Amino acid sequence: MKIAIMDGSPKNKDSASGLIAAALQAELTPAADCAVCHAASHDRDEIMAALASCDALVFVFPLYVDGIPSHLLRLLDEIQNDVATVAPGAAVYCAVNNGFYEAHQNGVAMELMKNFCVRSGLRWGQGLGVGAGGMVQAAPIGRGPLANLGRALSAFAENIRNGVSADNSFVEPNFPKFLYNMIAHMSWRVQARGNGLKIGRLWRFKISEVDEWVQSGKSSDINKGGK
Ligand SMILES: Cc1cc2nc3c(=O)[nH]c(=O)nc-3n(C[C@H](O)[C@H](O)[C@H](O)COP(=O)(O)O)c2cc1C
Repeated sequence: MKIAIMDGSPKNKDSASGLIAAALQAELTPAADCAVCHAASHDRDEIMAALASCDALVFVFPLYVDGIPSHLLRLLDEIQNDVATVAPGAAVYCAVNNGFYEAHQNGVAMELMKNFCVRSGLRWGQGLGVGAGGMVQAAPIGRGPLANLGRALSAFAENIRNGVSADNSFVEPNFPKFLYNMIAHMSWRVQARGNGLKIGRLWRFKISEVDEWVQSGKSSDINKGGK
């Protein structure tokens, strides 16, 4: 059995998608010949070669604006007419992780992936939604706050190995939501300060001021410490 896992995070390293893809690859190997490739760093021909003769295609990506990151969307658009020719009968699975705690937010992106299957003539397998993606770096998958994720990934891998279609599944960490949100807010503040933003301004903006700021060109100075 041949399986391709497509890491759809634009990050080169330390992404939640990369860690989920690696854990899934470990679950699927050695029962299957399973390789991970990156949507952001390969060209179309390399991607098509990686997908060729696969029984299952697994897309692992972050949720961006309730949808699919643009580079992955572009790739899906580029391959949708030919993918069924190189991987006839392949089933498509996806594991989508998001920043908010609630895993169900990933449901819309799964619907988009289902549409890709209809367009490309492939079979839909299953979606796995992973809430609180920021936690994925916090512990080994399968332990402590990521015990639920470990169990969900094992069940997901079994469906992929057996080529079965199943209802989408959604998993959140073994960690209280209020604590996750508190830590996330602290982290946003640190990042905002690091980018030259005064936190108080977050609550004092008027839309007209933001427009004025962007039109003045000052927004492009933000990474240089501009205010
Ligand atoms: C441009 C952008 C848009 C995002 N949109 C959402 C969103 O709509 N909902 C959400 O819960 N998280 C959103 N996030 C957060 C990411 O989904 C989250 O940080 C994810 O864990 C990143 O995964 P990665 O490390 O695999 O790239 C967004 C992040 C970025 C950078």
